Amino acid sequence: MVDLSVTVGSLKLNNPVLTASGTFGYGLEYVDLLDLSKLGGIVVKGLSRWPIPGNKPPRICETACGMLNAIGLQNIGVDAFLDEKLPRLADFDCAIIANVYGHSIEEYVEVAQLLDQRGAGRVHGIELNVSCPNVEAGGMAFGVDPDVVARLTQSVRQAVDLPLIVKLSPQVTDIAAIARAAQQAGADALSVTNTIPAMAIDAATRKPKLSNISGGLSGPAIKPVALRLVWVVSQAVSIPVIGLGGIMCGQDAAEFMIAGASAVQVGTATFNDPQAPCRIVGELEQFCEQQGIGAVRELTGTLKVDG
Ligand SMILES: Cc1cc2nc3c(=O)[nH]c(=O)nc-3n(C[C@H](O)[C@H](O)[C@H](O)COP(=O)(O)O)c2cc1C
Repeated sequence: MVDLSVTVGSLKLNNPVLTASGTFGYGLEYVDLLDLSKLGGIVVKGLSRWPIPGNKPPRICETACGMLNAIGLQNIGVDAFLDEKLPRLADFDCAIIANVYGHSIEEYVEVAQLLDQRGAGRVHGIELNVSCPNVEAGGMAFGVDPDVVARLTQSVRQAVDLPLIVKLSPQVTDIAAIARAAQQAGADALSVTNTIPAMAIDAATRKPKLSNISGGLSGPAIKPVALRLVWVVSQAVSIPVIGLGGIMCGQDAAEFMIAGASAVQVGTATFNDPQAPCRIVGELEQFCEQQGIGAVRELTGTLKVDG
């Protein structure tokens, strides 16, 4: 029997596999397709203070080895999440992480405070999205400047007791500097990484395939980029890293843990196979069995670099 439990700061997870924000709705959409209690946790769709309708369609398209999205942070708003979704999510034995998005530092703080207070005992952590490429104001603008990341992280840290995860953008010159700024400001963990700005064109119509013109690339196409970023960040900080970007199978998840991640998130894979997150838990367990590893956490940060 492999011990699959991991800790991410003070967050205790039954296993290291979480669903990635924006790719698994509010979790409840999947209750007929997989057993949510078999997941380490669910990171819900990014929540803002008020509902956001998102960008005009088309806002998703398939690309070679991945997909592009420009959803524009469509969500039901934090009140509706707390009233309508969270009570039902509490029936499942997995961690619930609320992904938070704001147009200003004040909005991030307000949303996080509402989740901390009104979601007490049912929300287990907060993940700050400082890295969305698909919105004009805020989003990635917050995530590219270490001082802004530090101010935002510190403001939310002072306002809430919940474990605080900061989700970093891949679209920066020096991700280690951003990671250190988030750690110094009080982040308990970092998620690495979000989608990469990209675009797709229909040659026949000469039009962009997304109404937003560009969007965020995700899926296997970004896995090598994400793996490197997880490695770089895990070398730069002493807080845990959650790795994501193109994880499709248990072996991918193992690679992210070897690169330095304590846990992983599964996103685009779920569009291919709605049961991917649970399948990946099983495959990771099998991988550990085959490798003679008694506890999955033993994989973290074991990359052999000395030849
Ligand atoms: C349709 C879609 C919506 C997303 N929405 C969010 C979001 O609201 N907040 C966020 O932090 N990341 C969001 N993401 C990014 C994913 O959580 C993840 O970081 C990214 O897709 C890379 O992982 P993957 O290759 O496994 O999908 C979204 C991704 C997709 C594909």
